[in-house]
Amino acid sequence: MAEQNKVKKILYGGDYNPEQWPEEIWQEDMRLFGLAGIDIVTLNVFNWANLQPSEEEYDFSKLDKIMNLVRENNIKVCMATSTGAHPAWMATRHPDILRVEKDGMKRRFGARHNSCPNSPTYRKYAVALASKLAERYKDYDNIVAWHVSNEFGGECVCDNCAKAFREWVRNRYGTIDKVNEAWNTSFWGHRFYDFDEIIPSDFRSEEFHFYIDGSPRTNFQGITLDYTRFNSDSMLECFKLEKEAIKKYTPDIPVTTNFMGWYKGLDYNKWAKEMDFVSWDNYPNWDARSSDPASFHDVIRSMKGGKPFWLMEQTPGVTNWHMYCRLKRPGVMRLMSYQAIAHGSDTVMFFQMRRSQGACEKYHSAVIDHVGNENTRVFKEVSELGRELNLIGDQILGTTINSKVAIVADWENWWAAEMSAGPTVLINYISEIMAYYNALFNQNIAVDFVSADDDISKYSLVIAPMLYMNKTGYDEKVRNYVKNGGCYLTSYFSGYVDENDRVLLGGYPGKQKDILGVWVEESDAIPPGESNSFIYKGTEYPADILCDVMHLQGAKEISTYEKEFYAGTPVLTKNRLGNGTVYYLGTRSSDEFYATFLRDICQELYIEPVLNAPREVEVTCRENEENRFIFILNHKDTASEVRIKKAGVDILTGKEYNADDIVKLDAKGVAIVKIGK
Ligand code: GLA
Ligand code: ZN
Repeated sequence: MAEQNKVKKILYGGDYNPEQWPEEIWQEDMRLFGLAGIDIVTLNVFNWANLQPSEEEYDFSKLDKIMNLVRENNIKVCMATSTGAHPAWMATRHPDILRVEKDGMKRRFGARHNSCPNSPTYRKYAVALASKLAERYKDYDNIVAWHVSNEFGGECVCDNCAKAFREWVRNRYGTIDKVNEAWNTSFWGHRFYDFDEIIPSDFRSEEFHFYIDGSPRTNFQGITLDYTRFNSDSMLECFKLEKEAIKKYTPDIPVTTNFMGWYKGLDYNKWAKEMDFVSWDNYPNWDARSSDPASFHDVIRSMKGGKPFWLMEQTPGVTNWHMYCRLKRPGVMRLMSYQAIAHGSDTVMFFQMRRSQGACEKYHSAVIDHVGNENTRVFKEVSELGRELNLIGDQILGTTINSKVAIVADWENWWAAEMSAGPTVLINYISEIMAYYNALFNQNIAVDFVSADDDISKYSLVIAPMLYMNKTGYDEKVRNYVKNGGCYLTSYFSGYVDENDRVLLGGYPGKQKDILGVWVEESDAIPPGESNSFIYKGTEYPADILCDVMHLQGAKEISTYEKEFYAGTPVLTKNRLGNGTVYYLGTRSSDEFYATFLRDICQELYIEPVLNAPREVEVTCRENEENRFIFILNHKDTASEVRIKKAGVDILTGKEYNADDIVKLDAKGVAIVKIGK
């Protein structure tokens, strides 16, 4: 990469779709980008039909012009491959690219993210396009990243997929007997004698809408789990094929695709391994808690061992697809941009640069609004942030976050925990994770996320909320971790099943009874509006969703239930194993409980907040060998103050602080205090 094209600051820009506009407007876009401090655009996200007008011809003339214009204006490019939506002619000529939805509906041409991931036609032409793009633009050294497709997602159950699924199953299990065993097909006499009898899991086969709450469930979790794995793998294969094609021409340019936050459909942990860096699109609802985007920033950062990620998209003002499209209040776009950086992003990028004139995103805001000039509140806020990011320069780039706490977030576990009918419709994996995450977030304690397959040895505390699935080797890893001095905390509905959702026999939680020092005999579902309770350090807290009725087998009880026939039996326990400690909470409690309980555990383990700060003032720390950057983010609508520990300088204002000084923040204000090591 040529010297002038090296990344020397937090990249600032976003999705730019000039092909949707007449060329006269492009020059004006460049002028406005200059005013706003924009230095990167993501090009070519949905452009396939222009680039390939028919099966036989390609036409890059317009994209050439755009690429040249952008380069002349010293703007870097995140180059998308356009394969997130196929052209109409392709659907007409090759209907095998059209998806079949889980209810059996065969799609026609329309919408986006609409191609069957196992269609040979789709794969052939997607790879051809990626390859042609890479070959054509390989010498544009302002390309700093490749962006394959867009927000991979959805599912397909068509005949291409059925065929590929059979192969996937054969590769995983080898023999039909092993398949029958894994899927527990002796139930209801569902035994398969031949791989050809295997069909996708959908609403025409094993899946159904639960009559209680309408949510999708399945009769055979083993089949549906494997189909979900297979669907995620099929799309990942599409990503890998395009990546491979690109790498032939530009081996040194990193390749990514944009994730969507807590998106259940794809095993993002598995995907991240195939990506050079990870990126995501952050669109919190207007009433989201400040911890919601923070949690996913942390998930994303952790997927690549803590390396910086990209904030690929956020709206500068308003999102069109929420129930109520509330404006981001003054200062909020800036605050959320710094929150992304505070959690490890090395970019701030928007969807999109110019607001579209027609179709379904015309009410989604953009850096340049329909009025078409720089005189909007949003444009001014974007420009002001552009100025600040120039000021920061390269200081923060590449710095990392040092977390002592890890929370297990595992996609396969997520799928399995919510697939069965029972034990309660209130089972919600992400909400269980967030109960613990929130408490740590509110105390400004840094958190990494790990999958059930990751190494946990470096953490002082590992929390595994509702880790329903005990994958092979997981219990042994935890046993060793605890014996070596680790602290492990887990909760109800954990350790019940293996990878195929078969119950691990011998009493719950299967292979973890010795680790926890308890045997859970049965679990009582608590309907909304009712509650059991327990007392912890003199205060009564609710016990909701499920109440495990358990027996101590080595652990000591910390609290017991207050009500029901199991009153007086343990709900919260502590076990010593080797040099470590294990806590088990056999129920779901309140935010107040998690705040208190986790504060106690962290104190015991000498895990400290970055700084002590008032509620809704978030503090994180990114560091490198020379410096620590303390991000102080005031999410409140009123001013706030935080006392810092060591002397430093605010890199946004140049203001110098002595040790123990107070940092004053306006409503929604941000300070980044740099402290030498
Ligand atoms: C997603 C997509 C974009 C756009 C935005 C709108 O993140 O990737 O193409 O549709 O949503 O919020
Ligand atoms: Zn398909």
